[in-house]
Amino acid sequence: MPETPNSGVLHVTDDRTGRTYDIPIEDGAIRAINLRQIKVSPDDFGLLSYDPAFLNTASCRSTITYIDGDKGILRYRGYPIEELADHASFLQVAFLILNGELPDKAELEAWTEQVTHHTFVHENIKKFIDGFHYDAHPMGILVSTVAALSTFYRESKGIFDQDKRKLQIVRLIAKMPTIAAFAYRHATGLPYAYPDNELSYAGNFLSMMKKTTEWSYRPDPVLEHALDVLFILHADHEQNCSANAMRAVGSSHADPYMSTAAAAAALYGPLHGGANEQVLNMLQDIGSIDNIPDYIARVKKGELLLMGFGHRVYKNFDPRAKIIKKVADDVFKVTGRNPLLDIALELERIALEDEYFVSRKLYPNVDFYSGIIYQAMGFPVEMFPMLFAIGRTAGWLAQWEEGILDAEQKIARPRQLYVGEWLRHLPSDASSFGDR
Ligand code: SDX
Repeated sequence: MPETPNSGVLHVTDDRTGRTYDIPIEDGAIRAINLRQIKVSPDDFGLLSYDPAFLNTASCRSTITYIDGDKGILRYRGYPIEELADHASFLQVAFLILNGELPDKAELEAWTEQVTHHTFVHENIKKFIDGFHYDAHPMGILVSTVAALSTFYRESKGIFDQDKRKLQIVRLIAKMPTIAAFAYRHATGLPYAYPDNELSYAGNFLSMMKKTTEWSYRPDPVLEHALDVLFILHADHEQNCSANAMRAVGSSHADPYMSTAAAAAALYGPLHGGANEQVLNMLQDIGSIDNIPDYIARVKKGELLLMGFGHRVYKNFDPRAKIIKKVADDVFKVTGRNPLLDIALELERIALEDEYFVSRKLYPNVDFYSGIIYQAMGFPVEMFPMLFAIGRTAGWLAQWEEGILDAEQKIARPRQLYVGEWLRHLPSDASSFGDR
């Protein structure tokens, strides 16, 4: 834990009244509710903290993921992301994120068996997916289908029954790849390829995506491992936008399917997990290294964002981006080099030397290189946020479970600063009401 003094007392003087207040500092924070005692009169509501987009607000205590944005540190349950990416499998990491400890041999076998045997979805799910337009974005299918799963597992509302809760968690981890692959197969007009329980988590997903007439699909081991690492890198990221959505919806005691659908909807936004798709579109729009200076000029004019750059927390390199660049080398040895990589590398080089980006501490984030790998692996661009969602489901569920079991938490219901019309009345002659 950081050595800086994390507790003490904040002495505050309100110059509106001259009164002073002692506000306790715990774990490097003050409780916003302790500001309410600061009033100008007995009937005053008391002071609020105003923090649009929660730039400086901790919403919870968590033991799941630690990030140090200045040092480029990311740890799941205390383990550095670099070690997990190099030595663990996604299912081991998902177990770690969900349970707090890495599984021992027996636990891993049981966990793998559970997930493997819950990869099928109800046959009616196919009818549901078939109902989407042929060019429906896969994320629209994923969000809707995950929500629909709650209608198949009505016991999922028993969120405080540990066995029921754990079973839904296994089902979601197991079925996200199936739903993602089925959405892809629907979009391409291919028949649904059922899960193959002989394959690994990542291998089974590749099989459901790529299988055609062969009796059983055997994924390339390099691509299978690369995808497993990418799932690990995306597994959790503390209180990001979609985790916040997961916790907020979960705080109303909605079931895990509804909460996950809300989180996936938040992830789909182009400023969040939808960025990997936008990065590819950006690189394709740039088209060649010669066009980079013009594009950068438009970004600096504020006309465009440099997709895949910048981060709310990382003000240094996103450690995941560094690992993804290494994964890219392995993938390209199998798939051939993606020509867009040259544009990405030159864009990165220019941006990291340019004052506009340096002064704003804009570095490549996890989404900058992942899309280049996904495209080289043959995934269509619209599938990229789905790949993010598959890995992140473990983190969403861990955040959701930690939130509903946290005795300090209640239903999420922020306050506001009302700045609208104070009070006004309808015209006394109601008949003139229509001609305001
Ligand atoms: C993810 O939170 C997480 O942990 C998310 C994530 C996870 O694992 O869950 O890490 C995954 O979502 C990564 C981020 C993917 N998004 C993108 O790559 C989209 C492009 N990035 C930006 O939209 C932006 O950087 C954000 C949304 C990621 C962060 O935005 P912030 O923290 O609100 O920063 P900001 O918008 O206040 O920007 C500060 C300044 C602004 O300029 P000024 O108004 O000061 O002049 O930097 C500029 C911004 O305009 N800026 C950019 C930029 N990002 C910020 N300018 C150009 N291109 C960019 N990408």
